[in-house]
Amino acid sequence: MQLRKRRGSAPSTADPVQALNQTWSKYAREWADRPDLNLGTQVLGEEWGGPEFAARIIHEVAAPYLGDVDVLELGCGGGKFSAHLRERTRHLTCADISSDMLARTRAHVGEGPDVRYLQLTGRNFNDVADASIDFIYSYDVLLHLQPQNVFSYLLDARRILRPGGVILIHAINLASPGGSYHFEVQFVQDTWSRPFDDPHRLGHIYYMSEDQLGALAQLGRYSMHQVVKDWPAADDPMWPVTSGRDIFGFLRREPSLKEVEGVRVVKTPDERLFALADGRRREFKMREIFDQAGYTDADLEPIDAGELDAIPEDQPVSRWEL
Ligand SMILES: C[S@@+](CC[C@H](N)C(=O)[O-])C[C@H]1O[C@@H](n2cnc3c(N)ncnc32)[C@H](O)[C@@H]1O
Repeated sequence: MQLRKRRGSAPSTADPVQALNQTWSKYAREWADRPDLNLGTQVLGEEWGGPEFAARIIHEVAAPYLGDVDVLELGCGGGKFSAHLRERTRHLTCADISSDMLARTRAHVGEGPDVRYLQLTGRNFNDVADASIDFIYSYDVLLHLQPQNVFSYLLDARRILRPGGVILIHAINLASPGGSYHFEVQFVQDTWSRPFDDPHRLGHIYYMSEDQLGALAQLGRYSMHQVVKDWPAADDPMWPVTSGRDIFGFLRREPSLKEVEGVRVVKTPDERLFALADGRRREFKMREIFDQAGYTDADLEPIDAGELDAIPEDQPVSRWEL
Protein backbone atom coordinates (compact mmCIF):
# COMPACT_ATOMS: atom_id res chain seq x y z
CA MET A 1 0.00 0.00 0.00
CA GLN A 2 1.32 3.43 -0.95
CA LEU A 3 1.16 6.09 1.75
CA ARG A 4 0.12 9.37 0.20
CA LYS A 5 0.13 12.85 1.68
CA ARG A 6 -2.70 15.20 0.90
CA ARG A 7 -1.26 18.33 -0.65
CA GLY A 8 -2.50 21.79 -1.37
CA SER A 9 -5.75 21.58 0.63
CA ALA A 10 -6.82 25.07 1.64
CA PRO A 11 -7.48 25.53 5.38
CA SER A 12 -11.18 25.79 6.18
CA THR A 13 -13.32 25.26 9.23
CA ALA A 14 -14.30 21.87 7.82
CA ASP A 15 -10.64 21.06 8.33
CA PRO A 16 -10.50 19.50 11.81
CA VAL A 17 -7.23 21.27 12.60
CA GLN A 18 -8.47 24.75 11.64
CA ALA A 19 -11.80 24.09 13.35
CA LEU A 20 -9.95 23.83 16.65
CA ASN A 21 -8.25 27.14 15.89
CA GLN A 22 -11.63 28.74 15.29
CA THR A 23 -13.37 27.36 18.36
CA TRP A 24 -10.46 27.96 20.78
CA SER A 25 -10.00 31.49 19.44
CA LYS A 26 -13.69 32.20 20.06
CA TYR A 27 -13.27 30.88 23.60
CA ALA A 28 -10.27 33.19 24.13
CA ARG A 29 -12.14 36.24 22.81
CA GLU A 30 -15.21 35.65 24.98
CA TRP A 31 -13.50 34.34 28.12
CA ALA A 32 -13.05 37.63 30.02
CA ASP A 33 -16.72 38.66 29.64
CA ARG A 34 -18.31 35.31 30.34
CA PRO A 35 -18.43 34.15 33.97
CA ASP A 36 -19.70 30.77 32.76
CA LEU A 37 -16.30 30.34 31.04
CA ASN A 38 -13.86 32.09 33.39
CA LEU A 39 -15.52 30.87 36.62
CA GLY A 40 -14.05 33.92 38.36
CA THR A 41 -10.41 32.96 37.67
CA GLN A 42 -7.68 35.46 36.74
CA VAL A 43 -5.86 33.69 33.91
CA LEU A 44 -7.50 31.80 31.05
CA GLY A 45 -7.05 28.12 31.77
CA GLU A 46 -7.16 28.38 35.55
CA GLU A 47 -10.82 27.40 35.33
CA TRP A 48 -9.50 23.90 34.57
CA GLY A 49 -8.05 22.87 37.94
CA GLY A 50 -6.99 26.21 39.40
CA PRO A 51 -3.65 28.05 39.68
CA GLU A 52 -2.19 25.80 42.38
CA PHE A 53 -2.78 22.72 40.26
CA ALA A 54 -0.92 24.33 37.33
CA ALA A 55 2.00 25.38 39.53
CA ARG A 56 2.29 21.91 41.02
CA ILE A 57 2.44 20.20 37.62
CA ILE A 58 5.42 22.39 36.70
CA HIS A 59 7.16 22.04 40.06
CA GLU A 60 6.48 18.36 40.67
CA VAL A 61 6.09 16.67 37.29
CA ALA A 62 7.95 18.76 34.69
CA ALA A 63 10.74 20.04 36.97
CA PRO A 64 13.38 17.39 36.02
CA TYR A 65 13.26 18.64 32.42
CA LEU A 66 13.63 22.35 33.24
CA GLY A 67 16.65 24.50 34.15
CA ASP A 68 19.34 25.84 31.83
CA VAL A 69 17.46 24.64 28.74
CA ASP A 70 15.40 25.93 25.80
CA VAL A 71 11.74 24.98 26.11
CA LEU A 72 8.80 25.18 23.74
CA GLU A 73 5.29 25.07 25.19
CA LEU A 74 2.87 23.55 22.69
CA GLY A 75 -0.68 24.88 23.10
CA CYS A 76 0.10 27.51 25.74
CA GLY A 77 -3.54 28.73 25.79
CA GLY A 78 -3.83 31.66 28.20
CA GLY A 79 -0.37 31.05 29.66
CA LYS A 80 -1.16 29.55 33.07
CA PHE A 81 1.92 27.29 32.76
CA SER A 82 3.99 29.68 30.65
CA ALA A 83 4.73 32.14 33.45
CA HIS A 84 6.09 29.28 35.63
CA LEU A 85 8.04 27.83 32.72
CA ARG A 86 9.62 31.20 31.92
CA GLU A 87 10.97 31.42 35.48
CA ARG A 88 12.59 28.00 35.17
CA THR A 89 14.12 27.99 31.69
CA ARG A 90 16.80 29.73 29.65
CA HIS A 91 14.43 30.54 26.83
CA LEU A 92 10.73 29.82 26.35
CA THR A 93 8.78 29.66 23.07
CA CYS A 94 5.04 29.92 23.72
CA ALA A 95 3.32 28.28 20.75
CA ASP A 96 -0.35 27.86 19.92
CA ILE A 97 -2.56 27.53 16.87
CA SER A 98 -4.70 30.47 18.06
CA SER A 99 -3.48 34.07 17.84
CA ASP A 100 -6.19 35.05 20.35
CA MET A 101 -4.79 32.55 22.84
CA LEU A 102 -1.26 33.78 22.20
CA ALA A 103 -2.40 37.35 22.85
CA ARG A 104 -3.67 36.29 26.27
CA THR A 105 -0.42 34.48 27.08
CA ARG A 106 1.61 37.51 26.00
CA ALA A 107 -0.48 39.77 28.25
CA HIS A 108 0.06 37.40 31.20
CA VAL A 109 3.73 36.50 30.68
CA GLY A 110 5.16 39.71 29.16
CA GLU A 111 8.00 40.42 26.76
CA GLY A 112 11.73 39.88 26.98
CA PRO A 113 14.73 38.32 25.27
CA ASP A 114 14.03 35.03 27.02
CA VAL A 115 10.51 34.57 25.62
CA ARG A 116 8.95 34.34 22.16
CA TYR A 117 5.38 33.90 20.90
CA LEU A 118 4.68 31.75 17.89
CA GLN A 119 1.50 30.92 16.00
CA LEU A 120 1.51 27.39 14.61
CA THR A 121 -0.33 25.95 11.61
CA GLY A 122 -1.59 23.19 13.90
CA ARG A 123 0.29 20.39 12.18
CA ASN A 124 3.95 21.01 12.93
CA PHE A 125 6.50 23.35 14.50
CA ASN A 126 6.67 25.73 11.56
CA ASP A 127 9.24 28.51 12.04
CA VAL A 128 11.13 26.71 14.81
CA ALA A 129 14.78 26.12 13.91
CA ASP A 130 16.22 22.63 13.60
CA ALA A 131 17.85 21.24 16.78
CA SER A 132 17.02 24.33 18.85
CA ILE A 133 14.85 22.94 21.67
CA ASP A 134 15.64 20.68 24.66
CA PHE A 135 12.15 20.09 26.02
CA ILE A 136 8.64 20.41 24.57
CA TYR A 137 6.04 20.88 27.29
CA SER A 138 2.37 20.38 26.55
CA TYR A 139 -0.59 19.85 28.86
CA ASP A 140 -4.26 19.53 27.94
CA VAL A 141 -3.59 20.02 24.24
CA LEU A 142 -2.62 16.88 22.32
CA LEU A 143 -5.53 14.93 23.82
CA HIS A 144 -7.87 17.21 21.83
CA LEU A 145 -6.10 16.27 18.59
CA GLN A 146 -6.63 13.21 16.46
CA PRO A 147 -3.84 10.68 17.10
CA GLN A 148 -2.51 11.33 13.59
CA ASN A 149 -2.15 15.01 14.48
CA VAL A 150 -0.28 14.04 17.65
CA PHE A 151 1.98 12.00 15.41
CA SER A 152 2.51 14.87 12.96
CA TYR A 153 3.81 16.91 15.91
CA LEU A 154 5.93 13.99 17.12
CA LEU A 155 7.59 13.67 13.74
CA ASP A 156 8.41 17.35 13.45
CA ALA A 157 9.59 17.35 17.08
CA ARG A 158 12.41 15.07 15.88
CA ARG A 159 13.57 17.98 13.73
CA ILE A 160 13.48 20.74 16.39
CA LEU A 161 14.72 18.70 19.37
CA ARG A 162 18.41 18.55 20.15
CA PRO A 163 19.92 15.07 20.54
CA GLY A 164 18.40 13.46 23.62
CA GLY A 165 15.63 16.07 23.74
CA VAL A 166 12.28 15.20 25.29
CA ILE A 167 8.64 15.86 24.39
CA LEU A 168 5.90 15.57 26.99
CA ILE A 169 2.67 14.06 25.72
CA HIS A 170 -0.20 14.46 28.12
CA ALA A 171 -2.97 11.94 27.54
CA ILE A 172 -6.19 10.93 29.27
CA ASN A 173 -6.57 7.31 30.18
CA LEU A 174 -10.09 5.99 29.63
CA ALA A 175 -9.34 3.12 32.02
CA SER A 176 -9.26 5.35 35.12
CA PRO A 177 -12.07 6.72 37.29
CA GLY A 178 -11.54 10.26 35.96
CA GLY A 179 -11.21 9.07 32.35
CA SER A 180 -14.37 6.96 32.46
CA TYR A 181 -16.31 9.80 34.06
CA HIS A 182 -15.09 12.23 31.41
CA PHE A 183 -16.06 9.78 28.67
CA GLU A 184 -19.57 9.43 30.07
CA VAL A 185 -20.05 13.19 30.31
CA GLN A 186 -18.87 13.75 26.74
CA PHE A 187 -21.03 10.88 25.49
CA VAL A 188 -24.11 12.44 27.10
CA GLN A 189 -23.15 15.82 25.62
CA ASP A 190 -22.78 14.14 22.24
CA THR A 191 -19.50 15.91 21.51
CA TRP A 192 -18.27 13.16 19.19
CA SER A 193 -20.99 13.44 16.53
CA ARG A 194 -20.99 17.21 16.18
CA PRO A 195 -19.22 19.02 13.31
CA PHE A 196 -15.60 19.84 14.07
CA ASP A 197 -16.32 23.57 14.26
CA ASP A 198 -19.37 23.27 16.53
CA PRO A 199 -18.47 25.17 19.74
CA HIS A 200 -20.14 22.38 21.74
CA ARG A 201 -17.51 20.00 20.43
CA LEU A 202 -14.81 22.07 22.12
CA GLY A 203 -12.83 20.00 24.57
CA HIS A 204 -13.63 16.69 22.87
CA ILE A 205 -11.07 14.11 23.96
CA TYR A 206 -9.26 11.39 22.07
CA TYR A 207 -8.30 8.98 24.86
CA MET A 208 -4.93 7.30 24.81
CA SER A 209 -3.51 4.59 27.06
CA GLU A 210 0.12 4.13 27.97
CA ASP A 211 0.62 1.30 25.47
CA GLN A 212 -0.88 3.34 22.62
CA LEU A 213 1.42 6.19 23.53
CA GLY A 214 4.29 3.71 23.48
CA ALA A 215 3.28 2.56 20.00
CA LEU A 216 3.30 6.13 18.67
CA ALA A 217 6.66 6.70 20.32
CA GLN A 218 8.12 3.61 18.71
CA LEU A 219 6.85 4.59 15.24
CA GLY A 220 8.48 8.00 15.56
CA ARG A 221 11.74 6.61 17.01
CA TYR A 222 11.34 7.83 20.57
CA SER A 223 11.90 5.93 23.78
CA MET A 224 9.56 6.19 26.73
CA HIS A 225 11.93 7.97 29.05
CA GLN A 226 9.39 8.33 31.86
CA VAL A 227 5.68 7.74 32.36
CA VAL A 228 3.88 9.42 35.24
CA LYS A 229 0.36 8.15 35.80
CA ASP A 230 -0.06 8.38 39.55
CA TRP A 231 0.09 12.13 39.94
CA PRO A 232 -1.54 13.52 41.98
CA ALA A 233 -1.57 10.53 44.32
CA ALA A 234 -4.90 9.13 45.47
CA ASP A 235 -4.41 10.60 48.98
CA ASP A 236 -3.48 14.06 47.64
CA PRO A 237 -6.08 16.77 48.27
CA MET A 238 -5.86 17.56 44.53
CA TRP A 239 -6.62 14.02 43.40
CA PRO A 240 -10.28 14.90 42.64
CA VAL A 241 -9.15 17.40 39.98
CA THR A 242 -8.32 14.54 37.63
CA SER A 243 -9.30 11.36 39.54
CA GLY A 244 -6.35 9.44 38.16
CA ARG A 245 -6.98 10.18 34.49
CA ASP A 246 -3.71 11.91 33.55
CA ILE A 247 -0.87 10.13 31.78
CA PHE A 248 2.31 12.15 31.36
CA GLY A 249 4.52 10.48 28.76
CA PHE A 250 8.04 11.89 28.52
CA LEU A 251 9.31 10.68 25.14
CA ARG A 252 13.00 10.97 24.40
CA ARG A 253 14.18 11.46 20.85
CA GLU A 254 16.35 8.51 19.85
CA PRO A 255 18.94 8.98 17.11
CA SER A 256 17.97 7.93 13.62
CA LEU A 257 19.95 5.27 11.83
CA LYS A 258 21.73 7.95 9.82
CA GLU A 259 23.00 9.59 13.01
CA VAL A 260 24.67 6.40 14.28
CA GLU A 261 28.21 5.61 13.14
CA GLY A 262 29.38 2.24 11.85
CA VAL A 263 25.99 0.76 10.93
CA ARG A 264 26.10 -2.62 9.09
CA VAL A 265 23.18 -3.99 7.15
CA VAL A 266 22.69 -7.75 7.01
CA LYS A 267 20.42 -10.32 5.39
CA THR A 268 19.39 -13.67 6.87
CA PRO A 269 19.07 -16.83 4.77
CA ASP A 270 15.30 -16.34 4.84
CA GLU A 271 15.76 -12.82 3.41
CA ARG A 272 15.01 -10.75 6.49
CA LEU A 273 16.90 -7.45 6.59
CA PHE A 274 18.47 -5.89 9.69
CA ALA A 275 20.65 -2.96 10.65
CA LEU A 276 23.31 -3.68 13.26
CA ALA A 277 23.99 -0.51 15.22
CA ASP A 278 25.42 0.13 18.69
CA GLY A 279 25.58 -3.61 19.40
CA ARG A 280 21.88 -4.14 18.69
CA ARG A 281 19.84 -5.41 15.76
CA ARG A 282 17.00 -3.47 14.23
CA GLU A 283 14.77 -5.03 11.63
CA PHE A 284 13.68 -3.38 8.37
CA LYS A 285 10.11 -4.68 8.47
CA MET A 286 9.59 -3.67 4.83
CA ARG A 287 12.00 -3.59 1.91
CA GLU A 288 10.71 -0.09 1.15
CA ILE A 289 12.15 1.21 4.44
CA PHE A 290 15.54 -0.33 3.63
CA ASP A 291 15.46 1.38 0.22
CA GLN A 292 14.38 4.71 1.74
CA ALA A 293 17.36 4.56 4.08
CA GLY A 294 19.57 4.69 1.01
CA TYR A 295 20.88 1.10 1.12
CA THR A 296 21.16 -1.30 -1.81
CA ASP A 297 21.79 -5.04 -2.15
CA ALA A 298 25.48 -4.27 -2.54
CA ASP A 299 25.58 -3.06 1.10
CA LEU A 300 24.14 -6.30 2.50
CA GLU A 301 26.30 -8.83 4.32
CA PRO A 302 24.95 -12.35 4.89
CA ILE A 303 24.33 -13.41 8.47
CA ASP A 304 23.11 -16.74 9.83
CA ALA A 305 20.21 -17.03 12.22
CA GLY A 306 22.38 -18.13 15.17
CA GLU A 307 24.67 -15.12 14.94
CA LEU A 308 21.73 -12.76 14.55
CA ASP A 309 19.81 -14.22 17.50
CA ALA A 310 22.79 -13.57 19.77
CA ILE A 311 22.49 -9.82 19.12
CA PRO A 312 19.96 -8.04 21.34
CA GLU A 313 16.90 -6.74 19.52
CA ASP A 314 15.99 -3.06 19.37
CA GLN A 315 13.05 -1.18 17.80
CA PRO A 316 12.45 -1.91 14.11
CA VAL A 317 13.77 0.79 11.78
CA SER A 318 10.99 3.30 11.35
CA ARG A 319 10.20 4.91 8.01
CA TRP A 320 9.94 8.21 9.84
CA GLU A 321 13.44 8.37 11.22
CA LEU A 322 15.16 8.36 7.87
C1 LIG B 1 -7.60 23.19 26.58
S1 LIG B 1 -6.58 24.46 25.95
C2 LIG B 1 -5.16 24.24 27.00
C3 LIG B 1 -4.32 25.47 27.13
C4 LIG B 1 -3.20 25.35 28.17
N1 LIG B 1 -2.26 24.30 27.83
C5 LIG B 1 -3.80 25.09 29.53
O1 LIG B 1 -3.77 23.94 29.99
O2 LIG B 1 -4.30 26.04 30.12
C6 LIG B 1 -6.02 23.80 24.39
C7 LIG B 1 -5.09 24.74 23.63
O3 LIG B 1 -4.55 24.03 22.51
C8 LIG B 1 -4.55 24.91 21.38
N2 LIG B 1 -4.59 24.06 20.19
C9 LIG B 1 -5.62 23.36 19.69
N3 LIG B 1 -5.25 22.69 18.59
C10 LIG B 1 -3.94 22.95 18.40
C11 LIG B 1 -2.99 22.54 17.43
N4 LIG B 1 -3.30 21.72 16.43
N5 LIG B 1 -1.75 23.01 17.54
C12 LIG B 1 -1.39 23.85 18.53
N6 LIG B 1 -2.25 24.28 19.49
C13 LIG B 1 -3.51 23.83 19.41
C14 LIG B 1 -5.79 25.75 21.58
O4 LIG B 1 -5.76 26.95 20.84
C15 LIG B 1 -5.76 25.99 23.08
O5 LIG B 1 -5.01 27.12 23.42
